[in-house]
Amino acid sequence: MKFSRMLIPTTKETPNDAVLASHKLLLRAGFIQFTGGSGLYNFLPLGKITLEKVRKVVKEELDKAGCNEVHLPMVTSLKLWEETGRADKFGKELLRFRDRHENDFTLSPTNEEAMVNLVRQTVKSYKQLPLNVYQINWKFRDEVRPRFGLMRGREFLMKDAYSFHASVEDMEREFALMEATYKKIFTRLGLEFKVVEADSGAIGGAGSKEFMVLADSGEDDIMVCDACDFAANIEVLDENTKNCTCGAELRVTKGIEAGHIFQLGTTYSAPMKAEFLNENQKLEPFVMGTYGIGVSRLLAGIIEQNHDEKGCVWTKESAPFNVDIIVAKAKNEAQMEVGLNLYEALQAKGVDVLLDDRADKKTGFGVKVKDFELIGMNYAIVVGNDIEEGNVELITRADLSKESVAIDEVVNVIMEKLGS
Ligand SMILES: Nc1ncnc2c1ncn2[C@@H]1O[C@H](COP(=O)(O)OP(=O)(O)OP(=O)(O)O)[C@@H](O)[C@H]1O
Ligand SMILES: [Mg+2]
Ligand SMILES: [Zn+2]
Repeated sequence: MKFSRMLIPTTKETPNDAVLASHKLLLRAGFIQFTGGSGLYNFLPLGKITLEKVRKVVKEELDKAGCNEVHLPMVTSLKLWEETGRADKFGKELLRFRDRHENDFTLSPTNEEAMVNLVRQTVKSYKQLPLNVYQINWKFRDEVRPRFGLMRGREFLMKDAYSFHASVEDMEREFALMEATYKKIFTRLGLEFKVVEADSGAIGGAGSKEFMVLADSGEDDIMVCDACDFAANIEVLDENTKNCTCGAELRVTKGIEAGHIFQLGTTYSAPMKAEFLNENQKLEPFVMGTYGIGVSRLLAGIIEQNHDEKGCVWTKESAPFNVDIIVAKAKNEAQMEVGLNLYEALQAKGVDVLLDDRADKKTGFGVKVKDFELIGMNYAIVVGNDIEEGNVELITRADLSKESVAIDEVVNVIMEKLGS
């Protein structure tokens, strides 16, 4: 993509209601835009590209684990919610409305009922089990206090998966597989995280674990053990718990809940009469698990963990572009030619690259470098006067280190750094 053709409204101004770094920076760098409605954001081109990158990582790992992607309507009939009694229990977070025929509907805040309804119509026998179905779709929750930008919006992108089993043992096997799959997803995204024992909140069920992205700005207090893998949400521990079962002292830290996995059992399938024929030709309710990831919240989480005073520092798999080619003087034909050649060479290697070809008077070299730092792409190649000596400058966003590299070498150097 060429910067001159893209809608990237970067700004120096810090929005005054934004407290979190991710909220400020995603607005300032032109990833998202406030719509004027609380907790509702437009995703601008950079935000949309980044969201799709994160979505792709989530999808690839789930598909590898044998999950089936589907798509459910964002609008669900309130009747489904009445089958489980959640129409009343969910309270005001569940936005309701009525159509012209006086039927009641909701904007989905989560989709247990709708997915059980999908499966009960199609799966009749234990021979069709186990089954894991998911979607990556917009959710709406009328949160009491939407805040912190993408961290706690009202409309947000969630991956929600639901698994169906003939036995508790098989559901536990899937729960462990999902835990392992989530670890792969969070690791690929370059996140520092902890898996914590959690309480099961409103959704109910036996076992539940949360995936916490570690960040000082996190809303959750968690206890972690540095000697072993143990971590737990502070809510589930006795207030006097100071030591881990391994003996070491526990440390309190903060986390952002980015994923949540639950063992559900038959909480939804029993009241909804979602049943299959077991080996003895007897009807039984499905044993279920449910697994969520806050895909749009992850964008905020990645930035909470990876930023500096100059801007965002995206990780390799989340960056909107891995390389930004800065043509220092876009009116200089020789520079533009080198820039374009490198742009095409990197594209041919499958690298996501942005060419900063802006040639207007207001957009000097300094502005281009500032935008690179604010947007936070992994590397910049500066094409400037050094091309006369056959060189360009390579900037690494993470530590802002600079090196001079031969034009002929720079594509290889980038490929090596990106590890592909
Ligand atoms: N308002 C929101 N904005 C953005 N992401 C959200 C929001 N609410 C939940 N999520 C994401 O969706 C995932 C699955 O939803 P779940 O119902 O488990 O969340 P939750 O327990 O209500 O989260 P929280 O405690 O933060 O309100 C969460 O782990 C989180 O990453
Ligand atoms: Mg909530
Ligand atoms: Zn321990």
